[in-house]
Amino acid sequence: MFISLVTLIVALVMLSVFIGLIRVGGIPFISSNKKDYDAIIRAMDIKPGETVVDLGCGKAHFLIKAAKEKQAKGIGYELVFWPYWWARFNVWKSGAPVKILRRDFFKADLSEADVVFCYLFPETMVKLEAKFQNELKPGSRLVSYSFKLPKRQPDKKIITNDDNTELGRIYFYQY
Ligand SMILES: C[S@@+](CC[C@H](N)C(=O)[O-])C[C@H]1O[C@@H](n2cnc3c(N)ncnc32)[C@H](O)[C@@H]1O
Repeated sequence: MFISLVTLIVALVMLSVFIGLIRVGGIPFISSNKKDYDAIIRAMDIKPGETVVDLGCGKAHFLIKAAKEKQAKGIGYELVFWPYWWARFNVWKSGAPVKILRRDFFKADLSEADVVFCYLFPETMVKLEAKFQNELKPGSRLVSYSFKLPKRQPDKKIITNDDNTELGRIYFYQY
């Protein structure tokens, strides 16, 4: 009885630590929908050799596909331990030209990015809007999955499903 109570407490503590580890800044570690990847890549109009940056790349599935299919270079920022190492492993396995950095994307240097991808939260888009405006070079593109920038109207909006959820909303911005 005593042992099972201790086991339960240890399990609860571990679970809460794990949940703490998999979210940062209130943003959970949830992947964008793989069935929307083709539409996102099409919207990005990536040319061979361009640099695609994923802010909060999770396990890097999107970045690997985009880099491989479009002969592009990928850079992923991921702060959380598990997705970071998972992404590193996936990149290694795929052989794609993708670099994963364990860094806060608010400190990312976006000046070399040709395309930026993000699947974040509305509050984060509020904080990033000025950074995009100040740092993205002319001709670069931003594609945001699910959430738009608060002030700027998207240049293009693609909807891949007809329910009322944010999933399947792709917002495109030209800089
Ligand atoms: C909703 S997931 C999206 C994952 C991936 N981009 C995708 O579309 O499948 C957001 C990711 O951003 C990461 N993240 C949140 N805030 C971050 C920050 N300030 N710097 C780097 N990564 C961050 C989270 O750990 C999480 O893995």
